[in-house]
Amino acid sequence: MPLQIILGTQWGDEGKGRVVDLFSSRADLVARYNGGDNAGHTVTVGSQTFKLHLIPSGIVHAHTRGVLGSGMVVNPVTFFTELDSLRASGVEVDPLRLKLSYAAHLITPAHKALDAAQEASRGREKIGTTGRGIGPAYTDKAARQGLRAGELLDESEFLEKLRAHIAAANRVLERLYQAPTLDVDRVSADYAAQALRLRPYLADTGLLVHQALAEGRIVLAEGAQGTLLDLDLGTYPFVTSSATTSGGVFSGLGLGLRPVEAIIGVTKAFQTRVGSGPFPSEVEGELAERLRGTGSNPWDEFGTTTGRPRRVGWLDLVLLRYAARVNGLTDLVITKLDVLSGLPELRLCTAYRGGGGRWEDLPFGPTELEKYSAEYEVLPGWSEDLTGIRRWAQLPAAALRYLERIETAVGVPIRMVSVGPERSQIVERG
Ligand code: GDP
Ligand code: IMO
Ligand code: MG
Repeated sequence: MPLQIILGTQWGDEGKGRVVDLFSSRADLVARYNGGDNAGHTVTVGSQTFKLHLIPSGIVHAHTRGVLGSGMVVNPVTFFTELDSLRASGVEVDPLRLKLSYAAHLITPAHKALDAAQEASRGREKIGTTGRGIGPAYTDKAARQGLRAGELLDESEFLEKLRAHIAAANRVLERLYQAPTLDVDRVSADYAAQALRLRPYLADTGLLVHQALAEGRIVLAEGAQGTLLDLDLGTYPFVTSSATTSGGVFSGLGLGLRPVEAIIGVTKAFQTRVGSGPFPSEVEGELAERLRGTGSNPWDEFGTTTGRPRRVGWLDLVLLRYAARVNGLTDLVITKLDVLSGLPELRLCTAYRGGGGRWEDLPFGPTELEKYSAEYEVLPGWSEDLTGIRRWAQLPAAALRYLERIETAVGVPIRMVSVGPERSQIVERG
Protein backbone atom coordinates (compact mmCIF):
# COMPACT_ATOMS: atom_id res chain seq x y z
CA MET A 1 0.00 0.00 0.00
CA PRO A 2 2.44 2.65 -1.22
CA LEU A 3 1.79 6.13 0.10
CA GLN A 4 4.61 8.58 -0.54
CA ILE A 5 4.52 11.90 1.29
CA ILE A 6 6.32 14.88 -0.23
CA LEU A 7 6.55 17.97 1.95
CA GLY A 8 8.61 21.08 2.60
CA THR A 9 11.16 21.14 5.40
CA GLN A 10 11.67 24.92 5.60
CA TRP A 11 9.40 28.00 5.31
CA GLY A 12 7.83 26.93 2.02
CA ASP A 13 8.88 27.36 -1.63
CA GLU A 14 11.43 24.56 -1.36
CA GLY A 15 10.51 23.26 -4.81
CA LYS A 16 7.80 20.80 -3.72
CA GLY A 17 5.86 21.29 -6.97
CA ARG A 18 8.74 20.21 -9.18
CA VAL A 19 9.55 17.23 -6.93
CA VAL A 20 5.91 16.10 -6.87
CA ASP A 21 5.89 16.40 -10.67
CA LEU A 22 8.91 14.12 -10.82
CA PHE A 23 7.43 11.44 -8.57
CA SER A 24 4.07 11.72 -10.35
CA SER A 25 5.39 9.91 -13.40
CA ARG A 26 4.93 6.68 -11.40
CA ALA A 27 1.91 7.72 -9.31
CA ASP A 28 -1.78 7.16 -9.96
CA LEU A 29 -3.21 9.67 -7.56
CA VAL A 30 -1.81 12.92 -6.16
CA ALA A 31 -3.53 14.45 -3.13
CA ARG A 32 -3.15 17.83 -1.43
CA TYR A 33 -3.83 17.51 2.33
CA ASN A 34 -3.49 21.05 3.72
CA GLY A 35 -3.71 24.75 3.04
CA GLY A 36 -5.38 26.50 0.15
CA ASP A 37 -4.45 28.99 -2.55
CA ASN A 38 -1.79 30.52 -0.31
CA ALA A 39 0.45 27.88 -1.93
CA GLY A 40 2.28 28.49 -5.20
CA HIS A 41 3.86 25.41 -6.75
CA THR A 42 5.79 25.72 -9.98
CA VAL A 43 6.32 22.91 -12.46
CA THR A 44 8.48 23.40 -15.54
CA VAL A 45 8.25 20.96 -18.45
CA GLY A 46 10.35 21.92 -21.45
CA SER A 47 9.48 25.54 -22.20
CA GLN A 48 6.12 25.34 -20.42
CA THR A 49 5.65 26.57 -16.84
CA PHE A 50 2.64 25.67 -14.70
CA LYS A 51 1.85 27.58 -11.53
CA LEU A 52 -0.46 25.66 -9.23
CA HIS A 53 -2.11 27.04 -6.12
CA LEU A 54 -4.91 24.61 -5.25
CA ILE A 55 -4.76 21.74 -7.71
CA PRO A 56 -2.12 19.09 -6.93
CA SER A 57 1.03 19.50 -9.05
CA GLY A 58 0.78 15.89 -10.23
CA ILE A 59 -2.17 16.83 -12.46
CA VAL A 60 0.25 18.06 -15.14
CA HIS A 61 0.80 14.38 -16.07
CA ALA A 62 -2.10 13.15 -18.20
CA HIS A 63 -2.40 9.78 -16.42
CA THR A 64 -2.85 11.00 -12.83
CA ARG A 65 -5.94 11.71 -10.77
CA GLY A 66 -6.00 14.54 -8.24
CA VAL A 67 -7.57 14.99 -4.83
CA LEU A 68 -8.19 18.06 -2.68
CA GLY A 69 -8.42 16.57 0.79
CA SER A 70 -10.44 17.27 3.92
CA GLY A 71 -7.58 19.27 5.46
CA MET A 72 -7.81 21.94 2.77
CA VAL A 73 -9.58 25.29 2.55
CA VAL A 74 -10.81 25.99 -0.97
CA ASN A 75 -11.76 29.22 -2.69
CA PRO A 76 -14.08 28.25 -5.58
CA VAL A 77 -13.13 31.35 -7.57
CA THR A 78 -9.42 30.50 -7.64
CA PHE A 79 -10.27 26.83 -8.20
CA PHE A 80 -12.02 27.60 -11.48
CA THR A 81 -9.47 30.23 -12.54
CA GLU A 82 -6.79 27.60 -12.10
CA LEU A 83 -8.74 25.00 -14.08
CA ASP A 84 -9.09 27.53 -16.91
CA SER A 85 -5.40 28.34 -16.92
CA LEU A 86 -4.51 24.63 -16.91
CA ARG A 87 -6.89 24.06 -19.79
CA ALA A 88 -5.30 26.94 -21.70
CA SER A 89 -1.95 25.19 -21.23
CA GLY A 90 -3.34 21.95 -22.62
CA VAL A 91 -4.07 20.15 -19.32
CA GLU A 92 -7.67 18.92 -19.27
CA VAL A 93 -9.09 18.65 -15.76
CA ASP A 94 -12.66 17.43 -15.31
CA PRO A 95 -14.65 15.94 -12.42
CA LEU A 96 -13.51 12.46 -13.43
CA ARG A 97 -9.85 13.36 -12.83
CA LEU A 98 -10.17 15.68 -9.88
CA LYS A 99 -12.12 15.28 -6.65
CA LEU A 100 -12.75 17.61 -3.74
CA SER A 101 -13.48 16.32 -0.24
CA TYR A 102 -16.97 17.06 1.04
CA ALA A 103 -15.22 17.86 4.36
CA ALA A 104 -12.88 20.54 2.97
CA HIS A 105 -13.82 24.04 4.07
CA LEU A 106 -14.73 26.88 1.74
CA ILE A 107 -12.99 30.26 1.68
CA THR A 108 -15.36 33.15 1.07
CA PRO A 109 -14.86 36.86 0.30
CA ALA A 110 -15.65 37.48 3.98
CA HIS A 111 -12.60 35.41 4.97
CA LYS A 112 -10.43 37.47 2.65
CA ALA A 113 -11.81 40.71 4.06
CA LEU A 114 -11.17 39.51 7.61
CA ASP A 115 -7.62 38.45 6.71
CA ALA A 116 -6.91 41.97 5.40
CA ALA A 117 -8.53 43.66 8.40
CA GLN A 118 -6.66 41.49 10.91
CA GLU A 119 -3.32 42.10 9.22
CA ALA A 120 -3.94 45.86 9.14
CA SER A 121 -4.82 45.83 12.84
CA ARG A 122 -1.62 43.95 13.74
CA GLY A 123 0.49 46.88 12.57
CA ARG A 124 4.17 46.11 13.04
CA GLU A 125 3.30 42.66 14.42
CA LYS A 126 1.73 41.61 11.14
CA ILE A 127 2.32 38.05 9.98
CA GLY A 128 2.64 38.99 6.33
CA THR A 129 -0.08 36.57 5.21
CA THR A 130 -0.80 35.92 1.56
CA GLY A 131 -4.15 37.69 2.01
CA ARG A 132 -6.07 34.67 0.74
CA GLY A 133 -8.36 34.34 3.80
CA ILE A 134 -6.58 31.23 5.06
CA GLY A 135 -6.45 32.14 8.78
CA PRO A 136 -10.11 33.22 9.04
CA ALA A 137 -11.31 30.11 7.15
CA TYR A 138 -9.45 27.78 9.52
CA THR A 139 -10.65 29.91 12.46
CA ASP A 140 -14.26 29.27 11.42
CA LYS A 141 -13.47 25.58 11.03
CA ALA A 142 -12.03 25.35 14.55
CA ALA A 143 -14.94 27.38 15.93
CA ARG A 144 -17.31 24.88 14.24
CA GLN A 145 -19.01 27.57 12.21
CA GLY A 146 -17.34 27.04 8.84
CA LEU A 147 -18.90 26.23 5.48
CA ARG A 148 -17.96 22.76 4.25
CA ALA A 149 -17.88 21.86 0.57
CA GLY A 150 -20.42 19.06 1.17
CA GLU A 151 -23.01 21.61 2.22
CA LEU A 152 -23.27 22.74 -1.41
CA LEU A 153 -25.46 19.70 -2.05
CA ASP A 154 -28.41 21.45 -0.38
CA GLU A 155 -28.56 24.70 -2.31
CA SER A 156 -31.15 26.59 -0.28
CA GLU A 157 -29.63 25.66 3.07
CA PHE A 158 -26.19 26.59 1.72
CA LEU A 159 -27.42 30.03 0.63
CA GLU A 160 -28.96 30.65 4.01
CA LYS A 161 -25.75 29.70 5.83
CA LEU A 162 -23.65 31.73 3.43
CA ARG A 163 -25.71 34.87 4.00
CA ALA A 164 -25.58 34.40 7.77
CA HIS A 165 -21.80 33.90 7.55
CA ILE A 166 -21.28 37.12 5.57
CA ALA A 167 -23.59 39.07 7.87
CA ALA A 168 -21.68 37.77 10.92
CA ALA A 169 -18.34 38.70 9.32
CA ASN A 170 -19.72 42.18 8.57
CA ARG A 171 -20.42 42.72 12.26
CA VAL A 172 -16.81 41.84 13.09
CA LEU A 173 -15.41 43.93 10.23
CA GLU A 174 -17.44 46.95 11.25
CA ARG A 175 -17.35 46.84 15.04
CA LEU A 176 -13.94 45.34 15.72
CA TYR A 177 -11.88 46.61 12.81
CA GLN A 178 -13.83 49.61 11.51
CA ALA A 179 -13.29 48.07 8.08
CA PRO A 180 -15.59 48.22 5.02
CA THR A 181 -18.37 45.62 5.06
CA LEU A 182 -19.63 43.40 2.26
CA ASP A 183 -22.94 43.68 0.42
CA VAL A 184 -24.65 40.52 1.67
CA ASP A 185 -27.03 40.11 -1.30
CA ARG A 186 -24.53 40.74 -4.06
CA VAL A 187 -21.58 38.90 -2.53
CA SER A 188 -23.71 35.86 -1.58
CA ALA A 189 -25.24 35.62 -5.05
CA ASP A 190 -21.92 35.99 -6.91
CA TYR A 191 -20.11 33.61 -4.60
CA ALA A 192 -22.83 30.95 -4.62
CA ALA A 193 -22.88 30.95 -8.42
CA GLN A 194 -19.19 29.95 -8.40
CA ALA A 195 -19.31 27.64 -5.38
CA LEU A 196 -22.24 25.59 -6.72
CA ARG A 197 -20.13 24.73 -9.75
CA LEU A 198 -17.97 22.65 -7.39
CA ARG A 199 -20.73 20.07 -6.90
CA PRO A 200 -19.68 17.62 -9.65
CA TYR A 201 -16.20 17.50 -8.08
CA LEU A 202 -17.39 16.49 -4.60
CA ALA A 203 -16.55 13.05 -3.24
CA ASP A 204 -15.53 11.11 -0.18
CA THR A 205 -11.90 11.53 -1.17
CA GLY A 206 -10.68 9.48 1.81
CA LEU A 207 -12.47 6.49 0.32
CA LEU A 208 -10.95 7.15 -3.12
CA VAL A 209 -7.45 7.33 -1.68
CA HIS A 210 -8.04 4.20 0.38
CA GLN A 211 -9.31 2.27 -2.65
CA ALA A 212 -6.34 3.35 -4.79
CA LEU A 213 -3.93 2.18 -2.09
CA ALA A 214 -5.82 -1.10 -1.63
CA GLU A 215 -5.40 -1.75 -5.35
CA GLY A 216 -1.63 -1.28 -4.92
CA ARG A 217 -1.56 2.03 -6.77
CA ILE A 218 1.01 4.67 -5.83
CA VAL A 219 -0.51 7.66 -4.05
CA LEU A 220 1.44 10.88 -3.45
CA ALA A 221 0.52 13.22 -0.64
CA GLU A 222 1.59 16.74 -1.66
CA GLY A 223 2.32 19.17 1.16
CA ALA A 224 1.81 22.90 0.88
CA GLN A 225 3.87 25.48 2.79
CA GLY A 226 6.66 24.00 4.90
CA THR A 227 7.40 22.44 8.28
CA LEU A 228 8.31 25.77 9.90
CA LEU A 229 4.91 27.20 8.88
CA ASP A 230 3.00 24.36 10.62
CA LEU A 231 0.38 25.70 13.04
CA ASP A 232 1.54 23.48 15.92
CA LEU A 233 5.16 22.74 15.11
CA GLY A 234 6.34 25.84 13.24
CA THR A 235 7.67 29.26 14.23
CA TYR A 236 4.41 30.27 15.92
CA PRO A 237 2.80 32.83 15.60
CA PHE A 238 4.52 33.46 12.25
CA VAL A 239 2.97 30.38 10.68
CA THR A 240 0.05 29.42 8.49
CA SER A 241 -3.12 27.94 9.98
CA SER A 242 -2.87 24.33 8.83
CA ALA A 243 -0.91 21.15 9.57
CA THR A 244 1.84 21.24 6.97
CA THR A 245 3.85 18.36 8.47
CA SER A 246 3.46 14.62 7.92
CA GLY A 247 0.92 14.36 10.75
CA GLY A 248 -1.41 16.55 8.70
CA VAL A 249 -1.51 13.95 5.94
CA PHE A 250 -3.65 11.52 7.92
CA SER A 251 -6.43 13.84 9.06
CA GLY A 252 -6.05 15.93 5.90
CA LEU A 253 -6.72 12.95 3.65
CA GLY A 254 -8.65 10.65 5.99
CA LEU A 255 -6.09 7.85 6.21
CA GLY A 256 -4.28 5.75 8.77
CA LEU A 257 -0.51 5.44 9.13
CA ARG A 258 -0.11 1.96 7.67
CA PRO A 259 0.25 2.76 3.94
CA VAL A 260 3.24 5.09 4.41
CA GLU A 261 6.20 3.99 2.32
CA ALA A 262 8.33 7.16 2.25
CA ILE A 263 8.31 10.64 3.77
CA ILE A 264 10.36 12.82 1.46
CA GLY A 265 11.56 16.19 2.73
CA VAL A 266 12.13 18.77 0.02
CA THR A 267 14.92 21.13 1.07
CA LYS A 268 16.27 24.14 -0.79
CA ALA A 269 20.09 24.29 -0.75
CA PHE A 270 19.78 27.61 1.11
CA GLN A 271 17.10 29.16 3.30
CA THR A 272 14.23 31.47 2.31
CA ARG A 273 11.18 32.94 3.96
CA VAL A 274 8.30 35.19 2.79
CA GLY A 275 6.47 37.21 5.40
CA SER A 276 7.45 38.17 8.93
CA GLY A 277 9.11 36.21 11.71
CA PRO A 278 12.58 35.39 13.01
CA PHE A 279 15.20 33.97 10.63
CA PRO A 280 18.54 33.34 12.40
CA SER A 281 20.60 32.54 9.29
CA GLU A 282 19.25 35.45 7.23
CA VAL A 283 21.73 37.46 5.17
CA GLU A 284 21.44 40.94 3.74
CA GLY A 285 23.19 43.19 1.25
CA GLU A 286 25.08 41.94 -1.78
CA LEU A 287 25.03 38.30 -0.76
CA ALA A 288 21.25 38.43 -0.29
CA GLU A 289 20.85 39.92 -3.75
CA ARG A 290 23.04 37.18 -5.16
CA LEU A 291 20.97 34.40 -3.52
CA ARG A 292 17.62 36.02 -4.30
CA GLY A 293 18.38 37.02 -7.87
CA THR A 294 16.96 40.10 -9.52
CA GLY A 295 13.79 38.54 -10.83
CA SER A 296 15.25 38.05 -14.29
CA ASN A 297 15.16 34.23 -13.93
CA PRO A 298 11.81 32.55 -13.34
CA TRP A 299 13.27 30.76 -10.30
CA ASP A 300 14.57 33.90 -8.59
CA GLU A 301 13.28 34.28 -5.04
CA PHE A 302 10.05 36.21 -5.48
CA GLY A 303 6.76 34.73 -4.20
CA THR A 304 4.76 32.65 -6.70
CA THR A 305 1.47 33.75 -5.12
CA THR A 306 2.17 37.33 -4.06
CA GLY A 307 5.29 38.36 -5.99
CA ARG A 308 6.93 39.57 -2.76
CA PRO A 309 10.74 39.31 -2.61
CA ARG A 310 11.70 36.41 -0.37
CA ARG A 311 14.11 36.87 2.51
CA VAL A 312 17.19 34.68 2.03
CA GLY A 313 19.96 33.13 4.10
CA TRP A 314 22.24 30.17 4.63
CA LEU A 315 20.85 26.66 5.06
CA ASP A 316 19.88 26.12 8.69
CA LEU A 317 20.76 22.59 9.81
CA VAL A 318 19.39 23.11 13.33
CA LEU A 319 15.94 23.67 11.85
CA LEU A 320 16.41 20.97 9.21
CA ARG A 321 17.27 18.40 11.87
CA TYR A 322 14.11 19.45 13.70
CA ALA A 323 12.09 19.05 10.49
CA ALA A 324 13.54 15.56 9.95
CA ARG A 325 12.47 14.57 13.46
CA VAL A 326 8.93 15.98 13.53
CA ASN A 327 8.09 14.61 10.07
CA GLY A 328 9.89 11.28 10.44
CA LEU A 329 11.69 11.91 7.14
CA THR A 330 12.99 8.87 5.27
CA ASP A 331 14.66 10.81 2.43
CA LEU A 332 15.80 14.28 1.48
CA VAL A 333 15.65 15.92 -1.93
CA ILE A 334 17.88 18.99 -2.20
CA THR A 335 16.75 21.60 -4.74
CA LYS A 336 18.41 24.62 -6.37
CA LEU A 337 21.97 23.40 -5.80
CA ASP A 338 22.80 25.12 -9.12
CA VAL A 339 22.07 28.53 -7.58
CA LEU A 340 25.08 28.19 -5.24
CA SER A 341 27.59 27.81 -8.12
CA GLY A 342 30.15 30.60 -8.15
CA LEU A 343 30.02 31.50 -4.48
CA PRO A 344 33.61 31.38 -3.17
CA GLU A 345 32.56 29.92 0.18
CA LEU A 346 29.37 28.51 1.62
CA ARG A 347 28.04 28.53 5.14
CA LEU A 348 25.90 26.03 6.98
CA CYS A 349 24.24 26.96 10.26
CA THR A 350 25.16 24.02 12.51
CA ALA A 351 24.21 25.41 15.94
CA TYR A 352 22.62 28.36 17.72
CA ARG A 353 24.03 30.47 20.50
CA GLY A 354 21.80 32.32 22.93
CA GLY A 355 19.52 31.85 25.91
CA GLY A 356 22.56 30.95 28.02
CA GLY A 357 23.85 28.11 25.87
CA ARG A 358 24.88 26.58 22.57
CA TRP A 359 22.25 24.44 20.90
CA GLU A 360 22.25 21.88 18.12
CA ASP A 361 18.70 20.97 19.10
CA LEU A 362 16.57 23.78 20.47
CA PRO A 363 15.25 23.48 24.03
CA PHE A 364 11.71 24.58 23.13
CA GLY A 365 11.53 23.90 19.42
CA PRO A 366 11.51 26.74 16.91
CA THR A 367 9.89 29.34 19.15
CA GLU A 368 11.36 32.76 19.91
CA LEU A 369 14.14 32.19 17.41
CA GLU A 370 15.03 35.89 17.66
CA LYS A 371 16.82 35.00 20.93
CA TYR A 372 19.49 33.06 19.08
CA SER A 373 22.34 33.80 16.72
CA ALA A 374 23.53 31.32 14.14
CA GLU A 375 26.88 29.54 14.42
CA TYR A 376 28.33 28.61 11.03
CA GLU A 377 30.59 26.05 9.52
CA VAL A 378 32.37 27.39 6.43
CA LEU A 379 32.81 25.13 3.42
CA PRO A 380 34.52 25.74 0.09
CA GLY A 381 32.28 26.67 -2.83
CA TRP A 382 32.51 25.52 -6.45
CA SER A 383 32.57 27.46 -9.67
CA GLU A 384 31.23 24.82 -12.07
CA ASP A 385 27.82 25.25 -13.71
CA LEU A 386 25.73 22.30 -12.45
CA THR A 387 22.69 22.73 -14.69
CA GLY A 388 23.82 20.14 -17.25
CA ILE A 389 24.92 17.49 -14.74
CA ARG A 390 22.80 14.32 -14.55
CA ARG A 391 25.09 11.88 -12.70
CA TRP A 392 26.02 12.03 -9.03
CA ALA A 393 29.69 11.27 -9.70
CA GLN A 394 29.92 14.30 -12.01
CA LEU A 395 29.07 16.74 -9.22
CA PRO A 396 32.10 18.82 -8.17
CA ALA A 397 33.94 17.56 -5.07
CA ALA A 398 32.98 20.69 -3.10
CA ALA A 399 29.29 20.17 -3.93
CA LEU A 400 29.49 16.54 -2.78
CA ARG A 401 31.14 17.69 0.42
CA TYR A 402 28.36 20.23 1.01
CA LEU A 403 25.72 17.53 0.51
CA GLU A 404 27.53 15.04 2.75
CA ARG A 405 27.75 17.62 5.55
CA ILE A 406 23.98 18.15 5.34
CA GLU A 407 23.36 14.44 5.40
CA THR A 408 25.52 13.77 8.46
CA ALA A 409 24.08 16.70 10.41
CA VAL A 410 20.50 15.67 9.67
CA GLY A 411 20.86 11.88 9.67
CA VAL A 412 18.63 11.39 6.62
CA PRO A 413 19.93 10.20 3.23
CA ILE A 414 19.80 12.57 0.24
CA ARG A 415 18.01 10.71 -2.54
CA MET A 416 18.39 13.28 -5.31
CA VAL A 417 19.33 16.87 -6.02
CA SER A 418 17.88 19.24 -8.57
CA VAL A 419 20.10 21.50 -10.63
CA GLY A 420 17.53 23.56 -12.50
CA PRO A 421 13.75 23.97 -12.64
CA GLU A 422 13.10 21.82 -15.69
CA ARG A 423 11.75 18.29 -15.18
CA SER A 424 14.94 16.65 -16.49
CA GLN A 425 17.36 18.74 -14.39
CA ILE A 426 17.71 16.15 -11.68
CA VAL A 427 20.62 14.11 -10.35
CA GLU A 428 19.60 10.85 -8.70
CA ARG A 429 21.92 9.10 -6.34
CA GLY A 430 23.06 5.89 -7.99
P1 GDP B 1 7.11 25.12 -3.92
O1 GDP B 1 6.14 26.11 -3.36
O2 GDP B 1 7.81 24.36 -2.85
O3 GDP B 1 6.52 24.22 -4.95
O4 GDP B 1 8.23 25.99 -4.64
P2 GDP B 1 7.98 27.23 -5.66
O5 GDP B 1 7.51 26.68 -6.95
O6 GDP B 1 7.19 28.28 -4.99
O7 GDP B 1 9.46 27.82 -5.77
C1 GDP B 1 10.50 27.10 -6.30
C2 GDP B 1 11.05 27.85 -7.53
O8 GDP B 1 12.31 27.31 -7.86
C3 GDP B 1 10.21 27.65 -8.79
O9 GDP B 1 10.33 28.79 -9.59
C4 GDP B 1 10.84 26.44 -9.45
O10 GDP B 1 10.65 26.39 -10.84
C5 GDP B 1 12.29 26.70 -9.14
N1 GDP B 1 13.14 25.49 -9.01
C6 GDP B 1 12.82 24.28 -8.48
N2 GDP B 1 13.91 23.48 -8.45
C7 GDP B 1 14.94 24.21 -8.95
C8 GDP B 1 16.33 23.96 -9.14
O11 GDP B 1 16.86 22.90 -8.85
N3 GDP B 1 17.08 24.98 -9.67
C9 GDP B 1 16.54 26.19 -10.01
N4 GDP B 1 17.35 27.12 -10.51
N5 GDP B 1 15.24 26.45 -9.83
C10 GDP B 1 14.45 25.48 -9.31
P1 IMO C 1 4.11 27.05 -0.76
O1 IMO C 1 3.17 25.88 -0.75
C1 IMO C 1 5.91 30.35 1.43
C2 IMO C 1 3.46 32.23 4.54
C3 IMO C 1 3.02 33.65 4.32
C4 IMO C 1 2.97 34.15 5.76
C5 IMO C 1 2.45 32.94 6.51
C6 IMO C 1 0.96 32.96 6.80
O2 IMO C 1 4.22 27.71 -2.09
O3 IMO C 1 5.44 26.67 -0.18
P2 IMO C 1 -1.18 32.62 5.24
O4 IMO C 1 -1.63 33.35 4.03
O5 IMO C 1 -0.95 31.16 5.02
O6 IMO C 1 -2.04 32.88 6.44
O7 IMO C 1 0.25 33.29 5.60
O8 IMO C 1 2.77 31.80 5.71
N1 IMO C 1 3.10 31.30 3.46
C7 IMO C 1 3.98 30.80 2.58
N2 IMO C 1 5.29 31.05 2.41
N3 IMO C 1 5.31 29.43 0.65
C8 IMO C 1 4.00 29.14 0.82
O9 IMO C 1 3.38 28.15 0.16
C9 IMO C 1 3.26 29.87 1.79
N4 IMO C 1 1.98 29.87 2.21
C10 IMO C 1 1.89 30.73 3.22
O10 IMO C 1 3.96 34.36 3.55
O11 IMO C 1 4.28 34.40 6.22
MG1 MG D 1 5.69 28.16 -3.45
